[in-house]
Amino acid sequence: MNPKRTFPAALLVLSMAAASHATTAADKAAGDKARSKTAAAETRDVWWKHAVIYEIYPRSFQDANGDGIGDLNGITSRIDYLKELGVNAIWLTPIYPSPQVDFGYDISNYVGIDPAYGTMADFDRLVAEAKKRDIRVIMDMVMNHTSDKHPWFIESESSKSNPKRDWYMWKNGKGPGEPPNNWQSAFGHSAWQYSPKTDQWYYHKFYIQQPDLNWRNPKVEQAMWGNVRFWLKKGVAGFRLDAVPTLFEDPSLKDEKILPGTNKYGDPNIDGSLTENLPEVHKVMRDLRDVTNGFPGNRVLIGETYLPNIQELQKWYGANHDELQLPMDMQVGFINKLDVNEFRQRIDEVEHDIGGNQPMLVFDNHDNPRMDMRYGDGKHNVDIQRMLATILFATRSTALMYYGDEIGMKTTPPTRIEDVKDPVGRTGWPNEKGRDGERTPMQWDGSPEAGFTTGDKPWLPVPDTYKTVNVAEEVRDDDSLLNWYKQLIQLRRDNPSLHSGKLTLLNTTDTKVLSWLRQTPGQPAVVVACNFTAEPQKISFDLSHLGITNKQAKTLMKTPGSSDPASLDAINLPPFGVYIGQMQ
Ligand code: NOJ
Repeated sequence: MNPKRTFPAALLVLSMAAASHATTAADKAAGDKARSKTAAAETRDVWWKHAVIYEIYPRSFQDANGDGIGDLNGITSRIDYLKELGVNAIWLTPIYPSPQVDFGYDISNYVGIDPAYGTMADFDRLVAEAKKRDIRVIMDMVMNHTSDKHPWFIESESSKSNPKRDWYMWKNGKGPGEPPNNWQSAFGHSAWQYSPKTDQWYYHKFYIQQPDLNWRNPKVEQAMWGNVRFWLKKGVAGFRLDAVPTLFEDPSLKDEKILPGTNKYGDPNIDGSLTENLPEVHKVMRDLRDVTNGFPGNRVLIGETYLPNIQELQKWYGANHDELQLPMDMQVGFINKLDVNEFRQRIDEVEHDIGGNQPMLVFDNHDNPRMDMRYGDGKHNVDIQRMLATILFATRSTALMYYGDEIGMKTTPPTRIEDVKDPVGRTGWPNEKGRDGERTPMQWDGSPEAGFTTGDKPWLPVPDTYKTVNVAEEVRDDDSLLNWYKQLIQLRRDNPSLHSGKLTLLNTTDTKVLSWLRQTPGQPAVVVACNFTAEPQKISFDLSHLGITNKQAKTLMKTPGSSDPASLDAINLPPFGVYIGQMQ
């Protein structure tokens, strides 16, 4: 596997059942009325601005019925753990009925629960138990494509005259056996699949079993909003929107520009300019925002927005703050090297160049090797992870974290192609071993299968590291990564400057230590310093230009070996050490 893989690489170059939930005029009118009452009143200091959102890959979190696959009842059984960690919301990757080719990102029914994960009653119980603990539930909404087993596609494929034909992207080939153009799937090879039934090709940005919906057809949009309303009515707090930059393709169907070199699947590199981040997507985002605004309770829209730069990211908030509240910033968390200057510049950008909107940082997810593989040096991995957690929780960002980050779970890719579960790994082997390595079962304790399942066949093997890297061990150890996460999250909640203060980068020419100040009027400021090197560093700050003349700081958190108490004239930091102090 390429340890620096950032998914999806290409994007960086830069139901029948559902039909019954389709938007009705009455829905829309009710939405408009509710919207005028709720949206304006609720946007000021909303929950998601300060939230810690915890991504759960349900298949891998906790198995309650012993079949080796994590499930909803498993998540419910661990809800107190999440509460104690300080989590405000959980994002569940897709739990809808699905053939599971892409482990749920291939949806065959948007308004149900896959039996592998439980029932709708299990889901309702999870939402209710979470609510009792002030934890919200965010769903994953996959709008770009469905499963090829979704009734919409089955109808669409059946004949050229089927009313659903135009719900997907059907085109003629260039010639016999030749796809319409050179567009490629993010998962390797041509993005076109031939269907002999009608002698045409359909477009799929992802797997062949994930045909793209045609977002130029208003009926697709209306049907999708029906699905969205179904879950909003059930009380979900919002959606993480899968792959939204790929909703539209250029109607010219021209070839994309070929770039030098080949990708990890051996295909020529192409520029993605006709299939990614087309401007038409913004109207759809505004329409969706209108739908969610129609419901009370500050529902939130989070975007899976791999974008080439901050200017493109800003557009996703909407010119009038009317698109996504939280398009993910992938620029900070996926730098993939510990370069102070680059971190500082990207943090500065996401702080200042997104038009006063709220940043959302993320360092890890189910599509990329975990932090150990992208940032670790093999010797100081835990220290490095403490430092990265500090950037996530002590900047002004809404914090999105991935299950297992808090205990330092390691990326554990398969070693034999026959063990690979993620099809990407089979197409790309051995250059690309797929995403199994970052999806291994949660390591709860030192018992067999790490407490993930009572069965003996977890869907992916539990890595050997579970014997020492597990929740039960780390709860007991005051200096564990898990306790660092808990304390940081608590500090971010309770300290007024860390909770909502503005951020000022400090010592901006330092190439070894990244530091910043958080300040909220009438409250003591907080200084944060992170040593980005494997050697001890000593730093000093002069904050007089910020109106801070007293040099004494009270330690709020520090890694072992950092100064305590600290004077701004000399703060000592051990390798990859962190100091967080409150000015006196
Ligand atoms: C992004 C998701 O995070 C990934 O897991 C999935 O394979 C693709 N979108 C396609 O839905």
